[in-house]
Order: sequence, then structure tokens, then C-alpha cells
Amino acid sequence: MIDNGLAEQTLEEVAASCLAGRELRKFAMERLSRLPGYNWSGIYRLENETLLLDEYVGAETDHAQIAIGVGVCGTAVAEDRNQVIEDVRNLTNYLACSTQTRSEIVVLIRDLEGATLGQIDVDGHQVGAFGASDEGFLTQLAELLAKNWD
Ligand code: SME
Repeated sequence: MIDNGLAEQTLEEVAASCLAGRELRKFAMERLSRLPGYNWSGIYRLENETLLLDEYVGAETDHAQIAIGVGVCGTAVAEDRNQVIEDVRNLTNYLACSTQTRSEIVVLIRDLEGATLGQIDVDGHQVGAFGASDEGFLTQLAELLAKNWD
């Protein structure tokens, strides 16, 4: 679970950045990767009904493209809601990025009309690494990224 101070500091750094689009997303993922327990941090863009891997920090993944409904990421789009997974070993619909991953959070990035632009995906090596504070923090980060999406 993220500490309030670190969350605020990260949001301030991203909000103060002059970057936009992919450069801003790269900056934001670098900042996320410094947070305790955020072992893989990445962005997927939703394009033509497929999630495409964008900027990320962490181990390389085989899942550069994910169909809607597949895995935790595709489920978030299919159900139109964020996913907070305490232990990925309990899932049947899961795409493994790393054998070390135990928990995962996916927060949707929406435009002002509420349409999904993509998502922030974070993996942790500990069971139950993410909760409501992480979802709130990543939702605020998603709003900052959505404002400067292109
Ligand atoms: N675990 C995700 C796939 C993305 S990797 O974790 C980077 C899923 O089940 O959709």
C-alpha cells in the first residue's frame, strides 16, 4: 500500500512536468518504479479493441498485445472497471509477466467523456501489495496522463 507522502510527491512531479504524450508516460512509469512494492509498472494503450504495451519499467514481457477480456488487463476493459488482485495465483484468467509476480493492480485511464484510453498496470512481488490507497493514487495519475495523452 502506498504511503500518502510518496503518492503526493509523485503526483506533484508528474503534474509539474513539461512533458506530454509518450514522454510524460515514460517519466511517470520511471517515477512509479521507484515506489516500494511497484516491481513492474507499465501503460497499455487501447487501440482498435486491443491493448498495446506502451512505456514500462521492469522485466520484458511477452504480452505486448492483449485482447479485451483476456488476463487481468483485458478483464479491466471488458468489465469497464479497475482490478485489484491480491494473489494472482488464485486467477484462472491471468497472463504471467514474471514468475515473481504475486499481486497486480490495473487502473483505467479515461478521457473527459469517460471513454477508456488505456490503463496503468502495476505488478508486485508480495501478496496483497495493492489496495484502495494505490487505486486512488493511480486514478489521480491516470487523470494527469489522460490530459496529455497524444
Ligand atoms: N498480468 C497481466 C499481463 C500484463 S503483464 O503483467 C505485464 C494480465 O494478466 O493481463
